[in-house]
Amino acid sequence: MIAAKDARELYEELKERLQDVVPPFELALKADLAWEINRLKQERGAVILGHNYMEPALYHSVCDHVGDSLELSRVAAATEGDPIIFCGVRFMAETAKILNPDRTVLLPSAKGGCSLASSITAADVRRLRQQYPGAPVVTYINTYAEVKAESDICVTSGNAARIVAQLDADTIIFLPDEYLARNVARETGKRVILPATGPVTGARADAAAADGVEMTVVGWRGRCEVHDQFTVEDVERVREQFPDVYVLAHPECPPEVVQASDFSGSTSAMIRKVKESDQVRYLLLTECSMADNIVAEAPEKQMVRLCSVRCPHMNEITLQEVHASLVQNRYIVDVPEPTRSRARKAIERMLEMA
Ligand code: 13P
Ligand code: SF4
Repeated sequence: MIAAKDARELYEELKERLQDVVPPFELALKADLAWEINRLKQERGAVILGHNYMEPALYHSVCDHVGDSLELSRVAAATEGDPIIFCGVRFMAETAKILNPDRTVLLPSAKGGCSLASSITAADVRRLRQQYPGAPVVTYINTYAEVKAESDICVTSGNAARIVAQLDADTIIFLPDEYLARNVARETGKRVILPATGPVTGARADAAAADGVEMTVVGWRGRCEVHDQFTVEDVERVREQFPDVYVLAHPECPPEVVQASDFSGSTSAMIRKVKESDQVRYLLLTECSMADNIVAEAPEKQMVRLCSVRCPHMNEITLQEVHASLVQNRYIVDVPEPTRSRARKAIERMLEMA
């Protein structure tokens, strides 16, 4: 158990692991705080879940479980800790609460937003349902509980294509990430219709059907403010400078960027790919902290970093905030009924199908 180590031991362990990514003086301060967090965590019987984007010192010192959205949803469904401290963004903490209504779920930041989650409302989903009666609503996990509650099934970047491929429907509504919808459509051989603004008109859906489309995916114009910034030019420039580079793109990136890359998958799939691969140099088109977290475990890997692209929401979560969260029992995440039960159905359906 991490908490059984004394502060010095924790510091030495972190120094060995993170010496190439965090300066020692900063690590000494962080190790003290991390040790205190682990002590409090044990005292309170808490469990800390951390998304792969957490900064390296936090990721490697206080998290009981780390992973992508799908893995953390599974852990949240099975964990026994109380409170659950979610080191990620609000929609992730909400998912943990939806699956554990009797336990306290804490998000260490008062904000923890996400541009995808805030791109769509429950009313938008209801309008789309009216326009496409009978079409199942497939919703990315990066949405708030009210939107999940209007959905038939949730997906994550780790299972979206697999789940869409299994759906027996001519038209599905896939919300809210435009790029993920297009990437999934390409992977599954489905066709995507996107509204210029707001929902798609029936005439355009009819046109797709006339083209002999097997399934039409009706999308939305949500975008991740981080992955939206990567361009094909970035990939080409890096390839020019480092011809041996292996490029991995998250499926929230624009489809042309995904196509210019060598691999696309969820954050955990990207981590696995780098660890398993025998290439030397990698470019990760996703939040920059992940490259540091990989190097800490696989120092022989060389990462080309495009670190001007950061997720401001994930970066809200610091060791200081996690400590304050445990001490002050903040910020409590609540999902009222009947939203919670309705959203739970969509998440459970995903966990069953995936
Ligand atoms: P993953 O499920 O792949 O970890 O993605 C979550 C996310 O928000 C990526 O920006
Ligand atoms: Fe949302 Fe993008 Fe940040 Fe992920 S990286 S939490 S999708 S804003």
